[in-house]
Amino acid sequence: MLVEALKVYMKNIDLELNNGVRIPAIGFGTYKAPDDAQGIDAVEKAIECGYRLIDTATLYENESAVGRAIAESEVSRSEIFLTTKVANKDRGYDSTLKAFDRSISALGLDYIDLYLIHWPASAACYTDWREINSQTWKAMCRLLDEGRVRAIGVSNFGPEHLDALADESDVIPAVNQIEFHPGWMQPQTLLRCQKSGIVVEGWSPLGRTRVLENPLLKEIAAAHDKSTAQVCLRWAIQHNVIPLPKSLHEERMRQNLEVFDFSLSDAEMALIDSMPVTGESGLTPDNIDSH
Ligand code: A2P
Repeated sequence: MLVEALKVYMKNIDLELNNGVRIPAIGFGTYKAPDDAQGIDAVEKAIECGYRLIDTATLYENESAVGRAIAESEVSRSEIFLTTKVANKDRGYDSTLKAFDRSISALGLDYIDLYLIHWPASAACYTDWREINSQTWKAMCRLLDEGRVRAIGVSNFGPEHLDALADESDVIPAVNQIEFHPGWMQPQTLLRCQKSGIVVEGWSPLGRTRVLENPLLKEIAAAHDKSTAQVCLRWAIQHNVIPLPKSLHEERMRQNLEVFDFSLSDAEMALIDSMPVTGESGLTPDNIDSH
């Protein structure tokens, strides 16, 4: 009964993107979900638990499992908000359009809700980084115009990449998906996005478990009778950031959705905001192409 009520509640919690499209306030991340029966099962379970935003990427090499799970789920396609991302090797105008066709075919879908540039080309790696990003963005805008995607955005863009894109195009990204968890909140990027109406999504909102034993988070969690994972997710939500936790375990998938029945106080938010750097991945636009 509680689970049913939660599902109905979840469906009603969403945010509005800058083109009017609505997006759920929490999503299910699929990085490391395998492209096989276990991956299909994980995404099916996530949908069953109540997740409506599913986040994948060409780089995760699991688009076909994600697509199968969506097709096999009892929830209709229109209720699912599916994100995928163009891989670094496919940056550029023509190659982005081709990559999109491959993604759509692997997913077995005829449209994508949100298409993101996975990582910006950066000045440290490419002298023509502005041109590369602007050509990729031009292809994304075309896909939006053609109605093949409902919204377009970027991922891992810092203020300098967003500024360069804004110099070349009037289309403001709907979303910037960045690494975001206690101990790594990238405040300048967060502020830059929120000032210009770009919704921020948080990847690795649990710091890939690296922040879960933090004493401050444990203390705050105990005060609310919640887990540290739930505190991380609630903190993101109260920053208007959409967290994308991932888990292959149903019990954790459910736990990670149970974050709408408590609030962190302003003092608790401020304490978490001021945590020293903790649990960051070390991945940046300047080093990602060598990974
Ligand atoms: P598992 O898939 O075994 O459940 P992030 O989303 O920050 O990248 O973190 C993902 C990692 O966190 C995975 O290893 C996942 O493990 C684990 N995880 C997900 N939810 C929880 C939770 N509620 N409590 C503890 N660990 C979790």
